[in-house]
Amino acid sequence: MKVIQAEKAGFCFGVKRALERAERTVQNSATVSFGPLIHNQQVVDRLEKQGVRVIDAVEEAKSSETMIIRSHGVPPEIYQAALERGIEVEDATCPFVQKAQKLAAEASQRSQVIVVGDKHHPEVQGILGWAGGDAFAIETLQEAQELPFYPHLSVLAQTTQPHANFQRIVDELHQHTQELTVYNTICNATEERQTVAWELAGKVDVMVVVGGRNSANTRKLASICSEQTETHLIETADELNENWFKGIHKAGLTAGASTPDWIIEEVKKKMTEIDEKDLTVQNEEEMDLN
Ligand code: F3S
Repeated sequence: MKVIQAEKAGFCFGVKRALERAERTVQNSATVSFGPLIHNQQVVDRLEKQGVRVIDAVEEAKSSETMIIRSHGVPPEIYQAALERGIEVEDATCPFVQKAQKLAAEASQRSQVIVVGDKHHPEVQGILGWAGGDAFAIETLQEAQELPFYPHLSVLAQTTQPHANFQRIVDELHQHTQELTVYNTICNATEERQTVAWELAGKVDVMVVVGGRNSANTRKLASICSEQTETHLIETADELNENWFKGIHKAGLTAGASTPDWIIEEVKKKMTEIDEKDLTVQNEEEMDLN
């Protein structure tokens, strides 16, 4: 069995940067992370062992601690609350998210701001926070169709939005305003990974997708791959099942944007070992026949 790993898999630039900052910060000061740093329990556990405590509210941090802002970013009130409590902030907001926050703040001065994305996602809540009180999020064409008319509208995207959905909504929004400003704030990392995984899944007999089950982008990767071939979503190498690879010639491997290289490597190693075991059994069977 040949194990083929997707060319683009695992950490995106923003997540890698956030993790590096967290690991660096904890070496010099007591550190808390505002929310789990990434959607991967193994990484969160590892950081906790290094001393990074996860908090859900600024009030849970002590003034002696440094608070890491994760790649999704936060609304301005969080920086303000940290400042008031004398808590040092290590800002690991992804620069692409930061750009969307800045654009939302500027656009809100002259227009109604709409963010296309999941209204419950911290990144979207953060961007809305920078845009101020009137801004809101929508995610479906139907929601766009139901909107009233606005004299001036600005639309931005959650960085992980599919291009097609954003475009559909933008087309609809033209009917709801006399002036629409479009900021395409989609980050290519997600779609690039999805395209590469989809192509790979079309060439193999089985796909393994590694990542947190609570990670939306990992689940999306698995669902895309399953359109092409049998697909298994796992969090760690221990979950691999030898039966998935019986009689298989080519197996594909990809991973969500919050899966670290060390977990991908472990999975790859174990898949290769299963393969070798399989070959050994085959050889023994052949010897028995002789
Ligand atoms: Fe940043 Fe794009 Fe990753 S916005 S956090 S590099 S998916």
